[in-house]
Amino acid sequence: MEIIIVDNSDQVSTTAADVIAAHAELGHTLGLATGSTPEGTYRELIHRYRHGDLSFNRCTAFLLDEYVGLPKDHEQTYYCTIRRQLTSHIDIADERVHSPDGTAAHPGEAAEEYERLIARSGGIDVQILGIGTDGHIGFNEPTSSLASRTRIKTLHPDTVRDNARFFEGDESRVPHHVITQGIGTILDSRHLVMIATGESKAHAVRAMVEGPVSAMCPASALQLHQHVTVILDRAAVAELSNVDYYTYAFSHKPQWQGF
Ligand code: F6R
Repeated sequence: MEIIIVDNSDQVSTTAADVIAAHAELGHTLGLATGSTPEGTYRELIHRYRHGDLSFNRCTAFLLDEYVGLPKDHEQTYYCTIRRQLTSHIDIADERVHSPDGTAAHPGEAAEEYERLIARSGGIDVQILGIGTDGHIGFNEPTSSLASRTRIKTLHPDTVRDNARFFEGDESRVPHHVITQGIGTILDSRHLVMIATGESKAHAVRAMVEGPVSAMCPASALQLHQHVTVILDRAAVAELSNVDYYTYAFSHKPQWQGF
């Protein structure tokens, strides 16, 4: 696990954009997260595309997760969110931007079909991840199996509370069920890029990086992956014990090693 510590959330965004841009240039399959954290990264990628520095025209994208039960055109579906935040502003073909079908009559079957679609397309080359305050990745809440595949999950009340901000603060409007890539599915991606900013994530970041591998902190499963880039701002590293070592290791990284 490579830990990159930068001063602020803007630098998290530009550093993450550097990593994603390198994959996009190779026409790689991108795994996209929604939520607040990647918004700056997406803005930066759009900026580079508009300035002619970057193209996504050979890329395919898969979202991590989707609410169950919201109409597809609801502005808070992740289907709409990713188009608003990123994909309708760049040159990726819309039919190559995939997300789980949260409107399916049989969401469990839709989840299994999504898993098959990812496999048929050759898997995900780079997966962007954010972390929940309870350590979730995708919507794999604490106690999710570390081997889980794409399936339906019930959101933890803390996540419902955290996400109420996207529903005018009204928790009763937040769907309680989601389809999410499983932790096993996420670990199949060839490169994981975790971004976290702000003090509210410091506790979860510590459990992810320095805690034991445990289903109580789903993000700790990243310790089992061979290629993980974790990009954090100063506030998010407040509870880490080994900041000096991570900083030393990154500053001594040979340039040829790349991301
Ligand atoms: C979103 C997702 C979630 C978020 C996490 C952090 O697709 O899978 O795991 O990454 O809830 O959300 P923010 O970035 O809003 O703090």
